[in-house]
Amino acid sequence: MIKPDGVARGLIGEVIRRFEQAGFKIVAMKMVQMSKEQAEGFYTVHRGRSYFEGLTEFMSSGPSVVMVLEGDDVIFRNRELIGATNYEEAAEGTIRREFATDGRRNVVHGSDAHEAAAFEIGYFFNALELAGP
Ligand code: TYD
Ligand code: MG
Repeated sequence: MIKPDGVARGLIGEVIRRFEQAGFKIVAMKMVQMSKEQAEGFYTVHRGRSYFEGLTEFMSSGPSVVMVLEGDDVIFRNRELIGATNYEEAAEGTIRREFATDGRRNVVHGSDAHEAAAFEIGYFFNALELAGP
């Protein structure tokens, strides 16, 4: 997902270019603006954390671009491309290291496990959108 800060700053193309250059195949994609409640549902595992309110305010503050990527070891490799949650600790050349502006506005989200990916894909895409040609 390209978060509201990434979309607002004109980084959609930059992020997608990196995903494509990594060899990932984009199999579904769209722009959505989540309501506060929808953002809370998306990040439900973080409920109760100190940053939950700020995170879900931010995530519902503007449109995001959500997509489904396919590729070998795509979950791990995509997380590598994105970089650590704290951009100051993220490796050189990662998306967050290059573009994040603070702990919350870190430009991108990537599923961290198969179960998370299944939940997150189902949150945004229906069967028809995932069916492919
Ligand atoms: P998390 O799932 O830990 O990170 P990641 O996005 O790398 O999977 O947290 C989700 C988002 O919550 C994270 O991208 C930014 C926000 N967040 C904060 O604002 N403060 C924090 O201390 C943490 C851990 C996360
Ligand atoms: Mg996470």
